[in-house]
Amino acid sequence: MQKILVARPIFPEVIDRLKQYFDVDWNDGETLSPEALNARLADKDGALTAGDPVNAATLAAAPKLRVVSQMAVGYNNFDMAAFNAANVLGTNTPDVLNETTADFGWALMMAAARRVAESEHFLRAGKWGKWSFDMFLGSDVYGSTLGVIGMGRIGQALARRARGFDMRVIYHNRSRVAPEIEAELNAEYRSKEDLLKEADHVVLVLPYTADSHHTIGAAELALMKPTATLTNIARGGIVDDAALAEALRTRRIAAAGLDVFEGEPSVHPALLTVENVVLTPHIASASEATRRAMANLAADNLIAALGVGPRAGRPPNPINPGVLGKARS
Ligand code: GLV
Repeated sequence: MQKILVARPIFPEVIDRLKQYFDVDWNDGETLSPEALNARLADKDGALTAGDPVNAATLAAAPKLRVVSQMAVGYNNFDMAAFNAANVLGTNTPDVLNETTADFGWALMMAAARRVAESEHFLRAGKWGKWSFDMFLGSDVYGSTLGVIGMGRIGQALARRARGFDMRVIYHNRSRVAPEIEAELNAEYRSKEDLLKEADHVVLVLPYTADSHHTIGAAELALMKPTATLTNIARGGIVDDAALAEALRTRRIAAAGLDVFEGEPSVHPALLTVENVVLTPHIASASEATRRAMANLAADNLIAALGVGPRAGRPPNPINPGVLGKARS
């Protein structure tokens, strides 16, 4: 029987599915250090990860490893050049999380615009003594301009929701989306700078790469409206968190909603001291149904990539399909 490592705690029924095909080593505890991950991978044919860094050193420590299946759509923790050099397949879990993640982006944007978290903290602290006309005045969402940076599947799901709020939608992306998608979403393309100047609510939904590092820093925040909000449901590192904390502290922008952070699970200490930010622990895809779908899709990818099960040899979501069928090097 082939051997696999499931590097993270996961739904037990998914472990049971994997056990039908594999000898499963399950880390149902704390996140493995790189050294512990390397040691556990030494004799494995496949692995299921969720954010664990996998690079040339990891692959060198695991000479039999042929596939690493990531339970997430983003896979910036994989060094794909190293995967390709070693003929190791990477897989991810796109699509099943689009709507759930778009819902959450919307929730954070609404919470930031209407100061939901900030006012809740105020109430819990026993500070609500009287009604006041100017208590927690926020920015309107209905009828405003939504700026989406990263118009992929999740960005499009987010923009589709804007129709119900009668919003104007502008977007920025590495390349323009097809005219029929622009027409369906009633979305207009903008340069990043124009989008930041025009949008009332900016939402980031782009992958993290060397190119997207600090897509939003002090210079970009300086372009935004003082009434605008910024929401990041993409990846830490896309925003310069120190610059954002400063822009929030000085009210350069009105508010932010953040689900992801540079260096998470650590959070920049300055972000913890500003009131006008909603902070959540990377849970945008975390509905019960969606996390189950992601775990099962990650298992489907692993089973098929290791040549067993009903889709043997045809994993649904290969990231680097060019290595399929090539011997491990
Ligand atoms: C979550 O962040 C994902 O990439 O699926």
